[in-house]
Amino acid sequence: MRYIKVLLFFTILTVSCTLFAQKTKVIPNRGMASPFTTIKNRAWWKEAIVYQIYPRSFKDSNGDGIGDLNGIISKLDYIKSLGVNVIWLNPIFSSPNDDNGYDISNYRDIMKDFGTMADFDKLLKGLHQRNIKLVLDMVLNHSSDEHEWFKQSRSSRTNPYRDYYHWWPAEKGKPNPRYSFFDVNSDAWKYDQTTNAYYLHYFSQKQPDLNWENPKLRNEIYDMMKFWLDKGIDGLRMDAFQYVSKDTTWQKYPEGYEKNIIKYYGMGPNLHTYLREMNHSVIDKYLVMTVAEGAGSTLADAHALVDEDRKELNMAYHFEVMDIGNDPKGYSLPDLKKVFTKWDGSFANKGWLAIFLANHDVPRMVSKYGDDSPAFRAASSKLLTTLIMTMRGTPFYFNGDELGMSNIKFDRIEDYRDIATLNAYQHVLAKGEDLKAFMDKQKFISRDNTRTPFQWDASKNAGFTTGEPWIKVNPNYKEVNAQREETDPNSVLSYFKKVVALRKSSPALIYGSYKVYDVEHPQVYCYLRSEGKEKMLVILNFSNQNVSYAIDRGINTHLSKLLLSNYKTAKIRDHKIALLPWQSVVYQIN
Ligand code: GLC
Ligand code: CA
Repeated sequence: MRYIKVLLFFTILTVSCTLFAQKTKVIPNRGMASPFTTIKNRAWWKEAIVYQIYPRSFKDSNGDGIGDLNGIISKLDYIKSLGVNVIWLNPIFSSPNDDNGYDISNYRDIMKDFGTMADFDKLLKGLHQRNIKLVLDMVLNHSSDEHEWFKQSRSSRTNPYRDYYHWWPAEKGKPNPRYSFFDVNSDAWKYDQTTNAYYLHYFSQKQPDLNWENPKLRNEIYDMMKFWLDKGIDGLRMDAFQYVSKDTTWQKYPEGYEKNIIKYYGMGPNLHTYLREMNHSVIDKYLVMTVAEGAGSTLADAHALVDEDRKELNMAYHFEVMDIGNDPKGYSLPDLKKVFTKWDGSFANKGWLAIFLANHDVPRMVSKYGDDSPAFRAASSKLLTTLIMTMRGTPFYFNGDELGMSNIKFDRIEDYRDIATLNAYQHVLAKGEDLKAFMDKQKFISRDNTRTPFQWDASKNAGFTTGEPWIKVNPNYKEVNAQREETDPNSVLSYFKKVVALRKSSPALIYGSYKVYDVEHPQVYCYLRSEGKEKMLVILNFSNQNVSYAIDRGINTHLSKLLLSNYKTAKIRDHKIALLPWQSVVYQIN
């Protein structure tokens, strides 16, 4: 009897211990109530802060003047110190670099300039050890003309790879015009003598468009995606993906169609079929995030890409914000507010977006939306960072913006490296158009403005390379650099880290509803983000003047708490706040 009692006692003890152990396993942070527990539809990629690294310009490890994977590895602790939790790398695959890696000649190997597969594995491991995820850039609309597929394809009309690309036999005459983004003559059909036929290239002549109508090509692509996903990467950025499905009747488009190019090139007839197929064959099997560059031309197009129940993509980024601010004379703040507000409203209940103000295809955010003059560069950089980090949607933040890096504004065409600028220059020259006006505009819009080397310190070449950098370093590096800013609590960098930490801790800033006030106010952007009891009021002075701003009486500012400001002072008195030039503040409202 006693024996049985003892046995029973031990059995109960063992069972309850096991149960307890199981419980502790599944409930992390015992005793610590997470502010996120009430959020429905949580996802790691919604809570992520994506930091975009342009590998060619981040850090050179071997003195050849080109950034590389070992360079990034040497800066992993810097990246960790930012607080970001996802890295997006621009293409790192083998490429002759006609378009800096967006022309891939081997999808399963690393570009020689950037290093080796062993370096890649080391980088991925180093990121994961620091709890940072990795997103790779999938360029699937086109390959390089130096890819083996294209070499085969162009060799004869009967080659098995012929249908991997779009060809038009020249005996049928010239095909209907198609616009090319990078071609000197804007002509997307390039005549190829070997087989007396034209091939299609929406981008440069060295970027022939892949033929997605061909299931063999699609399967090759899916296999290639598996190759990278099996290595353990965490996400895919789908470059120019909205263009992959083409109207292969090659019908004639109306005069001036190129001014509305997304309507004609985007969201082709089979795009959704391909996306579902890709999910079914590859993506569903992995816990990864997917983001598309481009979101069609309407809100409905964007929803069709990212709504959860469609099981296609997690998120997309649209370009309406980018379309604002391309005039050096300035832009209208109400226009900017309306674009953010329209998109947020449309995605309030369903779907998810990426939020960004810069990337490698546009100028520096401070030069475009802020004020990069010495007096306001730092303040306006901080304000723009606040905007990105307090919007609903996953922030995509471009490397160097956390330092307040600005446009380099080259004077000479010889300094430019970007195919878009170089080819457009040839075009202007051939047409006898105004060269000076062109060069002035490039200072403002050229993609090279964001591609200059990352400014690490005040040493030669900003500490980017010991050799000759592939593109010039911005001369302001002695003042604007990571080393200097790390030790200054008021620097753009120090402020960036604070906003990042605030966003990560706040369900309201990530998931909360968004309400805008005074949309027509020409200088101030004010909005409230709320989730449950948590309310965050963001006030941004988009001008280089002092502004006294009257806060809506409906907002209870009585017990407000200042969480963040890019100046020392920020006072609300009688529902009014005195804002300094480019001041940004975030209050917690009770
Ligand atoms: C995307 C990339 C851009 C590239 C183009 C062609 O827009 O972001 O850099 O030039 O696609 O691949
Ligand atoms: Ca190098």
